Amino acid sequence: MSLHMRPAKPSEADALSALTRRSKGYWGYEPSVLDRMGGTPAVGVAEIRAGGVVVAERDGTVLGYYQVTGTPPDGELADMFLEPEAIGTGLGRALWEHAVGWARLAGYRSLRWESDPNAEPFYLRMGAERIGEREVAPGRVLPAMRVTLGAAHGHGTSASAAPPPP
Ligand SMILES: CC(C)(COP(=O)(O)OP(=O)(O)OC[C@H]1O[C@@H](n2cnc3c(N)ncnc32)[C@H](O)[C@@H]1OP(=O)(O)O)[C@@H](O)C(=O)NCCC(=O)NCCS
Repeated sequence: MSLHMRPAKPSEADALSALTRRSKGYWGYEPSVLDRMGGTPAVGVAEIRAGGVVVAERDGTVLGYYQVTGTPPDGELADMFLEPEAIGTGLGRALWEHAVGWARLAGYRSLRWESDPNAEPFYLRMGAERIGEREVAPGRVLPAMRVTLGAAHGHGTSASAAPPPP
């Protein structure tokens, strides 16, 4: 029952976009709200080919993924999503640690992203900071988050405990 992190395959793009919708649904958004949030596919084949999309797999089942985009040294944590049944099991931390380790070894020194408001406490727990916010629709304000990655030998975040990139 071991957890395996590996690069996503181009053939998985649609499945990961569907996972994203299920994952966002964990917070109780109505389907119509999810429709408005997700205009374009969350994960595209080009992004997968670029190498920054990593899935977490257990017993052959993909349970979540992250996506890092942008040109080092400053990148974006574009996605971090788990299947609803995997949320709260420690997999979020495992995926986060892999993501920051991967990003640091890929030459990134910081990652930024806009968080779902419900996920902000998780990111703060992981050592990220809130650097702002943006109102994306009436009544919907997204926290702007950032994590600064330490030098390759590691300091400052849990990145130092992360495995090497795939
Ligand atoms: C965000 C997400 C990836 C976090 O994964 P997770 O499985 O809940 O995280 P873990 O179980 O590994 O928790 C890691 C730590 O964060 C804490 N944590 C997680 N969610 C929390 C919350 N909402 N409030 C407070 N603490 C939280 C846990 O208590 C845990 O702390 P500990 O390790 O010190 O005990 C997951 O909730 C998810 O996929 N949510 C739906 C999609 C989403 O919103 N993604 C983010 C888009 S920006």
